[in-house]
Amino acid sequence: MSDPRFILALDQGTTSSRSIVFDRAGQQVSAAQQEFTQHYPRPGWVEHDANEIWTTQRQTMEDALARSGGTAKDVAAIGITNQRETLVVWDRGSGEPVAPAIVWQDRRTSDDCARWVEQGLESRVTEITGLRLDPYFTGSKLAWLLRHVNGLKTKAESGQVLAGTIDTWLIWKLTDGAVHATDASNASRTLLFNLSTGDWDQEMLELFGVPHAMLPEVRDSSGEFGRVADGLPAAGVPITGVAGDQHAALFGQACFEPGMAKNTYGTGCFLLMQTGTEMVRSQNNLLTTVAWRLNGRMEYALEGSVFVAGAAVQWMRDELKLVESAEQLSELAGSVPDANGAILVPAFAGLGAPHWDPYARGTLVGLTRGTNRAHLCRAVLDSIALQSADLIAAMEKDAGVPLQELRVDGGASRSAALMQIQADLLGSPVVRPVEVETTALGAAYLAGLGVGWWSDRGEIARAWKADTKFTRQRPIDELDRLRRDWAKAVERAKHWEE
Ligand code: G3P
Repeated sequence: MSDPRFILALDQGTTSSRSIVFDRAGQQVSAAQQEFTQHYPRPGWVEHDANEIWTTQRQTMEDALARSGGTAKDVAAIGITNQRETLVVWDRGSGEPVAPAIVWQDRRTSDDCARWVEQGLESRVTEITGLRLDPYFTGSKLAWLLRHVNGLKTKAESGQVLAGTIDTWLIWKLTDGAVHATDASNASRTLLFNLSTGDWDQEMLELFGVPHAMLPEVRDSSGEFGRVADGLPAAGVPITGVAGDQHAALFGQACFEPGMAKNTYGTGCFLLMQTGTEMVRSQNNLLTTVAWRLNGRMEYALEGSVFVAGAAVQWMRDELKLVESAEQLSELAGSVPDANGAILVPAFAGLGAPHWDPYARGTLVGLTRGTNRAHLCRAVLDSIALQSADLIAAMEKDAGVPLQELRVDGGASRSAALMQIQADLLGSPVVRPVEVETTALGAAYLAGLGVGWWSDRGEIARAWKADTKFTRQRPIDELDRLRRDWAKAVERAKHWEE
């Protein structure tokens, strides 16, 4: 019998579930994608149906495998990467979720977080977890659920109900309930994980009222998690790579040396800089997070998270109906030299780094009678690049040196207009690789390392190939003006809901 030819990467994102089959050269062989329902039951609330996440993921596994022309026997390993922070709690016996999944964008715990900040708890929380007291992270969501679902806490204490981020939920479903585990990168997004010890932190568990018995075991990002159960697509295949999507993208971009950084343009924008085995503490409102844990050794990253990026493009398409596609928006934005003074701050889910204001809301300013559709499209792309530029400025201050280059990926990085605006604002080159689906590729690499498909990271770094390099073209005075207007507009967006 011939050796398996493929690695299967599962990329469970905020708006869709995807499966991609890669070959040994790291090339895509086939892919399948399914969108799933977003639920907004109240203003500021965002929920997913965990069962729908699972059924769409399972279906895409089946479809991608069928399209590859292979069967489970052709798959050496599975890598899982996922939207981070989103919380699922389910019953150990029935496997049924006890409530809808609370999504990372959900703001329902804003007041709880504000209260903890008032009590002076934030600096201790940051010291232990590297994060902030913001509703973005899993901890406050889990505390909320434990308070609001009758009898949940008692069941959690006895281990009758289990908690997890999406990776943990998928591992549980794929192994038919045999494995309750997560990796260190996903754990580091929960507010419950100690960055130094590499395990759940008792002090944080007490603060959020979370029983240890309901939490998954924390493992390396590469190594065997379990095997896919009989009756499922890819039955018998080992799951050997697990990482949060932004961490997987950092890996897929081969950012292995301290100081190397990537920005992923997806629903949001997530900028991560590798800092090696050193845990860098931000002085500029960024997060310290686990990049990945390999062979028991943690490596860290500095992260800036922007909550709405590609989602603003979707908003223009689906809610305002000003364009029919992201490509059309990019084309229209590129057809004008600037936004003619219009500035959009897409704080639809509050503002993330470096502002951290869950009460901020979307703001559109600087309109005149001359503002047209192309200008609004341009304002959307500007807003994505400007938010990322704010993160890079904060990161450069923390690092004390300018960024050598920014590696970019994710769907919206395909927009040349957006990448040009980003390079104009940055000054440092913006480099787009041949493969922009680096999140899935990173998960495939982690899984492949786990089964010896690739010998080491050097081999992966050598496989990384640049495709297009964008450098600054606009005059600096124009850019300074844009930055000043942006800063003014951001101030207007802040504290709106308070
Ligand atoms: O922290 C949230 C992030 O992991 C979501 O990523 O790609 O689903 O927007 P994405």
